[in-house]
Amino acid sequence: EKGGYEHFMLKEIYEQPRSILDSMRGRMIAESGHLMMGGVREYENKFVNADRIIIVACGTSWHAGLVAEYLIEDLARIPVEVEYASEFRYRNPIITEKDIVIAISQSGETADTLAAIELAKSKGATIFGICNVVGSSIARATDAGAYTHAGPEIGVASTKAFTAQVTVLTIIAMIIGSKRGTLETTRVRQLIAELESIPAKVEEALKLNDQIVEISKKFKDATNFLYLGRGYNFPVALEGALKLKEISYIHAEGYPAAEMKHGPIALIDEQMPVVVIATKDSSYEKIVSNVQEVKARKGKVIAIVTEGDTTIPSMADHVIEIPETSEHLMPLLSVIPLQLLSYHIAVMRGCNVDQPRNLAKSVTVE
Ligand code: F6R
Repeated sequence: EKGGYEHFMLKEIYEQPRSILDSMRGRMIAESGHLMMGGVREYENKFVNADRIIIVACGTSWHAGLVAEYLIEDLARIPVEVEYASEFRYRNPIITEKDIVIAISQSGETADTLAAIELAKSKGATIFGICNVVGSSIARATDAGAYTHAGPEIGVASTKAFTAQVTVLTIIAMIIGSKRGTLETTRVRQLIAELESIPAKVEEALKLNDQIVEISKKFKDATNFLYLGRGYNFPVALEGALKLKEISYIHAEGYPAAEMKHGPIALIDEQMPVVVIATKDSSYEKIVSNVQEVKARKGKVIAIVTEGDTTIPSMADHVIEIPETSEHLMPLLSVIPLQLLSYHIAVMRGCNVDQPRNLAKSVTVE
């Protein structure tokens, strides 16, 4: 059942080239720039004319929502708010009929997300669901939606569901952007071609496994970890920290790298591992200075960089090279080494990675 892997989590991490492909299959044609998604087509005018998009979710799905905020605002130029479902539902939020609410949930059963949907529905908003489980409560409560085709996710820590959600959300952002005219056809074609190359690049990133085992040995006894990223990699920093917390029980925090100087920098000393996601993108120069700030305080830097980079490797203690891609798609690659890092550290600490203490696969209570 685990396909020869020691844990479901590892199997699911390795399934990602396939689950990402399955989540994009039949939804785009690179040559023409054509994009197709049934649920979106049905509500195309709503999407095109929406005043704003509100994304509601919890946990890892909320992190996918944060990636979508960057994607939709950049490619489709519609304001996006990303909300923890649990806060949104109790806040007396302002919701109108011109709003579109996108609910993201792997299980489709998360109580807070479901309640947020019911609230938004009662105010007349259009509800779009992104679920992995077909026929789940959330899928049934929405007006329209698109499934992620990640296949069953059994490990409690979400891995392939996250990359499938980001894949589907990328396609949605491209669809809205093309319909609104904020995204030119040539760029759509390029992005589709790039997205099509992602499964092979994830395959490349998975080959880092042995190197990550070695790094994990060095840091398995750490008591704290910081994860830093900027732009599209900021949600990935949050996701990397969450993965480590939930399965290895090491305290970890994710931060937008520039926020470090507003507080967390006080924590940095020679005991503190800092995972910096520093791929070549529009924030690269800025993150180089963030790495310098960490090194000046003797923090141990584990850097995720783009293949061929020389600047960050000259400063970092450990370097993990991932393939190049458009910054819009980078989370699909940069999250892979972080999943593997948390997995190996948890295994080395003797933790039950597939069923971490106190956690359930679907949180059907608030
Ligand atoms: C993290 C994790 C949880 C879920 C969260 C939402 O690895 O598994 O944080 O992401 O409980 O669950 P879904 O997506 O099923 O609504």
